[in-house]
Amino acid sequence: MAAAGSAVGLGNIWRFPYLAGQNGGAAFLLIYLAFILLICFPVMVGEIAIGRKAGLDAYGSYKKIGGANWGYLGLFGILGCFFILSFYNVVAGWAFGYFLEITFGSLLSEKDFSSFFGSYVTDIGDNFWFSLGFMVITAFIVTKGVQKGIEMANKIMMPMLYIILISLIIYGLTLPNALAGVKFYLVPELSEITPQTIFDALRQAFFSLSLGMGALITYGSYVKKNQNIVSSAAIISVADTMVAFLAGLMIFPLVFSAGIMPSEGPPLVFIILPKIFHDMHPVVGRIVGGSFFLMLCFAALTSTISMLEVPTAYLVDQKKLPRKSVVWLLAGLIFILGLPSMISQGVKGFEFLNKLTFYQGKDFLTFISDTADMGLTIGGCLMCVFISYRWKINNMNEELSIGNENYMKSFAQKYISFAIRYICPLLLGVMSLLIIYDKFFGLNNLF
Ligand code: TRP
Repeated sequence: MAAAGSAVGLGNIWRFPYLAGQNGGAAFLLIYLAFILLICFPVMVGEIAIGRKAGLDAYGSYKKIGGANWGYLGLFGILGCFFILSFYNVVAGWAFGYFLEITFGSLLSEKDFSSFFGSYVTDIGDNFWFSLGFMVITAFIVTKGVQKGIEMANKIMMPMLYIILISLIIYGLTLPNALAGVKFYLVPELSEITPQTIFDALRQAFFSLSLGMGALITYGSYVKKNQNIVSSAAIISVADTMVAFLAGLMIFPLVFSAGIMPSEGPPLVFIILPKIFHDMHPVVGRIVGGSFFLMLCFAALTSTISMLEVPTAYLVDQKKLPRKSVVWLLAGLIFILGLPSMISQGVKGFEFLNKLTFYQGKDFLTFISDTADMGLTIGGCLMCVFISYRWKINNMNEELSIGNENYMKSFAQKYISFAIRYICPLLLGVMSLLIIYDKFFGLNNLF
């Protein structure tokens, strides 16, 4: 449940719909689903297996199985979580702010939610406090240890999230022009598929399943020996993909019926949802809108917890430092690291962060987020290399048979072994290089 909580987050509800919207809707969805099944599922199984086998943090696990040099791969992931959390917490702060402003403030009486969002993210005062608040809550829960707090919360929050999503889907489908949105999201135009669609689908699939950064190694180290890793990974993947799928099915009918461009980008859910809640009866809008953003905050919280847990586990396991102090220290550092991302959203006087000349004129938050995404696929690729050539597929299979007696004879075994040995490292290696090239030089120059 905790790993499913790590997977389900802003990635599903904020990032997935806007990337799908920018990449042709159904075409993106199709490729995304293919990547989840073909690449991400085996990678997830491998990651959890490493963690359970070694029973340590990401660095310690690689080092214990593979020797000191492989430990660096673990450190790479730990550093990655550090960076991802820095900007993720800023976006979580926006969601937290929206929850408060919708429930207790006057956000829903605005008229133009697009320009409202634009000026909201430049309000450094609010953003500072909301994201600080978010980080403090995350840190507080992590000091208590992952298992107790989160599993309880997830058992209540996940079903609630599904209920709200499904209710909003049904509501959305009754609005005029909703079917155009359904068509955009579910009927693929194969001509829409560009290299960009493929890259975005791959990095989003990794991001959404929290792969490639040692997060699932860390959580895997808490998994008991009698548990079936393959079926746990299947449940996590399905739960995560369902939430992303439903989020898209909710957003696009709303987007089309409101006449907004689906390619709006990162602000998409922050524009379209408040508009829909605004159109409801004022009290209903406040309740439904408030609950929606509250659920989004909980989803984000179980993800931020998992990201903070990765470096924490490292420092506690390896350096024998006290958990409490480590958590607060890391939370403070990550929060500070997030400040440039926060300021880069258009705060006046900080143009050098708002428009990075070396990064195609994009802002600092996009830069950090894209760079971290490159790390996810590279981390996933190297993990497959690690399993195939260092740990060995047979040893992984042996670990996977514990808690799953029939595993050796199953189709899953053949498939996962083949994918980890050949498909994943090759595809992830090639794609990572192309993604890096594209980000810094633009792929159009290549072809
Ligand atoms: N999967 C989370 C989401 O979709 C984000 C996340 C949590 C993550 N932990 C991670 C991404 C570790 C990469 C690595 O919101």
